[in-house]
Amino acid sequence: MSDPIVLGIETSCDETAVGIVRGRTLLANTIASSVQEHARFGGVVPEIASRAHLEAMGPTLAQALKDAKISLSDVDAIAVTAGPGLVGALLVGIGSGAGLALGLNKPIFAVNHLAAHVSVDSLTHSNPLDPTIALLVSGGHSSLLQVDEITGSITKLGATMDDAAGEAFDKIARLMKLGFPGGPAIDALATSGGAEAIDFPRGLTTSHDWQIRPFDFSFSGLKTAVARYIEATPNYARADVAASFQEAVVDVLLLKSLTACKRSGINSLIIAGGVAANSRLRAVAEQRCDKAGINLRIPAPALCTDNGAMVAALGALMLSAGRSPSPIAFDGLSGLPVEVVSLL
Ligand code: KG4
Ligand code: ZN
Repeated sequence: MSDPIVLGIETSCDETAVGIVRGRTLLANTIASSVQEHARFGGVVPEIASRAHLEAMGPTLAQALKDAKISLSDVDAIAVTAGPGLVGALLVGIGSGAGLALGLNKPIFAVNHLAAHVSVDSLTHSNPLDPTIALLVSGGHSSLLQVDEITGSITKLGATMDDAAGEAFDKIARLMKLGFPGGPAIDALATSGGAEAIDFPRGLTTSHDWQIRPFDFSFSGLKTAVARYIEATPNYARADVAASFQEAVVDVLLLKSLTACKRSGINSLIIAGGVAANSRLRAVAEQRCDKAGINLRIPAPALCTDNGAMVAALGALMLSAGRSPSPIAFDGLSGLPVEVVSLL
């Protein structure tokens, strides 16, 4: 018998995404984004995102089935993001997923968005990822996790105390009038700047911090430092600011991730989420993990940002681990803790 086909739906933020997998094989990863509708506000507007999901869900689902060359009746299970995310946005995906599961009479897995980001790795590596340390960095979250078993045992080691890493990129890009989302623009500008040109602060890295909150992040001090520098320096070197800001973020993310590996004795690290697409983060992670003997996995950039394939991948892992499906009726949970991999 061939592996089961799982259809995954992701609508936690501004991407309406449907992914389809057969076991660990990716069949389709279709995404409609409302990012341009939010650009003039400098961040995602929840009401606009929800409406955009409603409009995009039908066409995105149809396109995904077409890309995968299957019909709905071939689907063996549905997986959908239940949280964390914007409630109004989540509800569109949940309503669609529950409707499909009911209509097709197939099981549904209501899964955690953060666990899904990590499990996308199963589509590119056949050997198991877990146990691993996971660094999740995107516009909505920055957390460091210990993943002992991807379908059921995840522990939060730390998270950001203020802005998410991607949010910091977006806010600095806004200050520099680089547009939204800011990460890719800063990444590109930084290639011609000096990473060491300006000594920006590394948040929560004093010896006291290492004792009481070793794995938490803070980017607000860095943001203020960059804003002050720009204010105080007419005709500042834009590429240097981008590169030095980026370096401060990358440095602190990796410092904490590698320390988590060392302290837990787990010599494997996965980096996921939109910021994992950052070229400097990818390059420095490779250098430092090489040196420390840590096995590093970073998904391809298109699988790092929010997508449906990661949700489908987690659904397929749940099925093969024999995990129970979710009830057909469940809520969208904006603050779903990462320890809850799926709703039961
Ligand atoms: O995972 P994602 O698509 O959505 C959320 O769940 O938030 O992440 C989006 C975030 C944005 O803040 C964006 O600026 C950031 O990821 N991002 C990047 C890069 N590409 C996307 N940040 C730094 N460098 C990049 N190349
Ligand atoms: Zn995400």
